[in-house]
Amino acid sequence: MNKQIILLPGDGVGKEIMDSAKRVLNAIASEFGHSFTFHQHAIGGDAIDQFETPLPEDTVKACEGADAILLGAVGGKKWDSLPAHLRPEKGLLGIRKTLGLFANLRPVKGFAPLLDASPLKESVIQGSDILIIRELTGGLYFGQPSERRENGNAVVDTLSYHRSEMERIIDKGFQSAQLRNNHLTSVDKANVLESSRMWREIVNQKSKEYPDVTVEHLLVDAAAMKLITQPNTFDVIVTENLFGDILSDEASVLTGSLGMLPSASIRSDGVGLYEPVHGSAPDIAGKGIANPLGMILSAAMMLRYSFGMEDEADEIEEAVNDALEQGYYTADLKVTGGKLVGTEEMTKVVLDNLTTKSVSNSICSVYV
Ligand code: NAD
Ligand code: IPM
Ligand code: MN
Repeated sequence: MNKQIILLPGDGVGKEIMDSAKRVLNAIASEFGHSFTFHQHAIGGDAIDQFETPLPEDTVKACEGADAILLGAVGGKKWDSLPAHLRPEKGLLGIRKTLGLFANLRPVKGFAPLLDASPLKESVIQGSDILIIRELTGGLYFGQPSERRENGNAVVDTLSYHRSEMERIIDKGFQSAQLRNNHLTSVDKANVLESSRMWREIVNQKSKEYPDVTVEHLLVDAAAMKLITQPNTFDVIVTENLFGDILSDEASVLTGSLGMLPSASIRSDGVGLYEPVHGSAPDIAGKGIANPLGMILSAAMMLRYSFGMEDEADEIEEAVNDALEQGYYTADLKVTGGKLVGTEEMTKVVLDNLTTKSVSNSICSVYV
């Protein structure tokens, strides 16, 4: 298959890990006979520095014409004091909104070799496999423009959703549960927020259309607690934008590190933007120690969700698992024993594992 892929490395470690994903995709392309063409564009602080805007028109156009988009991360101290509309984060929010990428899928499934990398007990995290579905283009992130009033002493942020925005993400939650273990946890704050009461109403109405899916409602505070005390009781979690942002960083603890989590931001036609869940990690940027696995796993999600390349995606995930089995770990993974490596070496190990698979697959096909 021929695919045009836009690369948006962004800032901080985003720039350091994008190359890892590109090399892995090139290896997959040559093994499976695909042709991936990469076009790199600016976003976030990088775009502010070059074009005085976090989301240049040229970047938007390129993304609109692409088969899929890979993004590293945006943000950093250098741009923290800029006005809200000029911050790097505005670039990321802008591209999500412009492309209509309303469904953010954040799978939280630990790799077996990392069971002891989590600060949580193995007995607690054993067997947990969660898909967090976060609404991505509404809520507090996209209400009326925030404003300061009373000489800067009062502030207003607005949370707004249209019924249709809730319905489509809740449908996605039910449909994803049907493809997994038929259990949906809807997370809200219906004891306080009107938006959550409407959300809960819709979940209850929709549940009649999906009688095979069991539904659990949790208030977000209790959900945060249950996520780390009984993580293996969850299957699919569906929630609004801000709750999903917070809960997914929390859930990353189950996997050993935020650096392990990939994500897909998609709409109904399969076009998607794929990025690790973490940010630009300014505290470690420039040191060559960032974990590239969340980025590499995001590339695997791109192959699976946007291109329907299941075998190729599986192969990347196996190569990552093998690297961890072989004892390689980056500094963010608090494992005992093993071989501590940086971004470059971890990438090479994954590439070597892919090559080994490619060779053994071709030997198998000779003998079949
Ligand atoms: P962060 O996710 O960048 O970092 C949180 C912690 O996790 C840090 O200690 C960091 O070193 C560690 N970490 C993150 N990714 C890692 C990786 N790949 N390997 C090893 N360790 C990793 O969150 P933050 O520090 O709160 O935010 C920093 C900047 O990133 C902010 O400007 C924020 O707005 C931005 N941000 C961007 C995105 C995105 O682009 N999708 C996501 C989150 C935060
Ligand atoms: C994420 C990030 C972003 C978000 C920020 C950088 C705008 O935290 O992708 O999780 O809050 O959505
Ligand atoms: Mn986040």
